[in-house]
Amino acid sequence: MAKFDNNFVDELRMRLSIVDIVGRRVPLVKKGQNYWGCCPFHNEKTPSFSVAEEKGFYHCFGCGAHGDIISFVMNTEHLEYPAAIRELADMAGMKMPEYKPKSPARQKMEDSYFEIIENATKLYQQLLFEPAGADALNYVRGRGFTDDMIKKYRIGYAPKNNIITNKFSNLNQSNLLATGLVRRGEYGMYDFFRHKLMFPIFDAHGKVVAFSGRSLDGSEPKYINTTDTELFHKRQTIFGFNFARDEIYKKNRSIVVEGQIDAIQMQMHGFGETVAPLGTALTEDHIAILCKSNRNIIFCFDGDNAGQKAAARAASIVLPFVRDNSDVRFAFVVGGKDPDEVLKTGGVAAMHKIIDDATPLIDFLWNWTNQNFLVSTPGGRTQAEKFLDTELKKITDKKLQYEIEQEYKKREFQQWRSWKKTDAPKIKLPDTDLVTKNTLVYIVNNFPDIASQYADFLSSLNISFDVDAPDLGWDARAAEKFIVSLKLQRYRAALEQELKIKMQGMINGENYTNEELGDIKKKINDVNQRLEKLLYME
Ligand code: UTP
Ligand code: MN
Repeated sequence: MAKFDNNFVDELRMRLSIVDIVGRRVPLVKKGQNYWGCCPFHNEKTPSFSVAEEKGFYHCFGCGAHGDIISFVMNTEHLEYPAAIRELADMAGMKMPEYKPKSPARQKMEDSYFEIIENATKLYQQLLFEPAGADALNYVRGRGFTDDMIKKYRIGYAPKNNIITNKFSNLNQSNLLATGLVRRGEYGMYDFFRHKLMFPIFDAHGKVVAFSGRSLDGSEPKYINTTDTELFHKRQTIFGFNFARDEIYKKNRSIVVEGQIDAIQMQMHGFGETVAPLGTALTEDHIAILCKSNRNIIFCFDGDNAGQKAAARAASIVLPFVRDNSDVRFAFVVGGKDPDEVLKTGGVAAMHKIIDDATPLIDFLWNWTNQNFLVSTPGGRTQAEKFLDTELKKITDKKLQYEIEQEYKKREFQQWRSWKKTDAPKIKLPDTDLVTKNTLVYIVNNFPDIASQYADFLSSLNISFDVDAPDLGWDARAAEKFIVSLKLQRYRAALEQELKIKMQGMINGENYTNEELGDIKKKINDVNQRLEKLLYME
């Protein structure tokens, strides 16, 4: 049997939800922690087939079938292992690796990589407490880091000279270069990190895989990170996750902040579930890592324009991961420039308030749309609708997608149409009575599809739909019937009015042809027939 790189298979399992994979063949219903359906491996009428999303396993209590996404695809589609992997890779949008078992050379490279990085970490840690590191130590203490924190996060100092190049000179050069700690220049090897406050970047198991170095003399860029190596991929690594994973599980949510100092300070102030991407760009791999435990994420961004933009980007990336039980929210930092500063100036309470006030994803997306498109114009509304459509299409659960669409349709009607009301053509008609008003409000609130279909008529009535109305328990057919009949009655009243005016005019000597009057009468007749059909039709 062909053997795939373990990392690749792990990543497949990480990216794909077993609920989605099984759900393509077996209708599943969530009950308690797990999803349940009728077992595809034996004949049954009552569900005894359970799927545990977090664990990535299915288990049938009837026939004992048990496995993960790979065995599920193999057994339901009768595929060999490599073919199943290929199909899953397609679904995950991953390129198939050339599969070869880890060569001894590769294993050696990995061992040396981790050993060098571990030794460098120790060296930087040591140097922070030596005279050369005095400025760095002062700086990090000034940022509110206690010695315990410095130890826990293994913070260190990379001195001004080429310490790694010199101290590790006996090592194989290519192994050293592979760590990203040194580079080869015109005049030989030199250290990548010099005069930096060093934050180790850990993998999920707590092994140091790379570094982020903060400038200490105000020079730009403020942070430099190890550029990607064979064993460190910035897009797939999320800072603080190794410390946060238990808390993410216990608290049943994660918090994502923008900077690593923010993540550390949050973790130290009771928000142990906090992580940060490296650099500002959040990727779907970051989200996939968090979604392994649960799909409840609070994104915490700057309160400024850039923060709003970053939040919209995050929303776009997180949408494919959203399930009917997900709770994704967006918090915006006020009262300080970032969580670190909020914690310092306003304390834990101020930070709690920001987190507790976070806006749910669908409200954030709605607000963003309203702020970024000219929804007071037909063109702007069209663009806004197209934008929301594109975003919602990313939700894989079609039922959930439909429910959110309905919610947006309702808001579009209530908020966009009411702005438009002033320029809607007004039909001069008697006021709508209270029962009719309440009925219409009920319909708009419960049948957004119908409301948007008859939006022009409804908004011409000049009533406020942004209120509550008693529940009538109607179905969509009854609702549509009501609106159509109301529309016809209004139309008939207008025709009758016209006829009356013209007949009056005849008496006063105005000239109308018989055809003209007959035309109106015929229209009235038509309307009557349509009304009759509508009202007595089942
Ligand atoms: P910020 O500029 O907000 O930094 O960048 P910060 O964390 O508030 O910095 P401090 O508090 O002054 O130390 C947020 C994150 O973006 C990445 C870093 O990961 C940083 O934590 N970043 C920022 C870079 O990678 N390079 C940069 O030049 C700046
Ligand atoms: Mn900061």
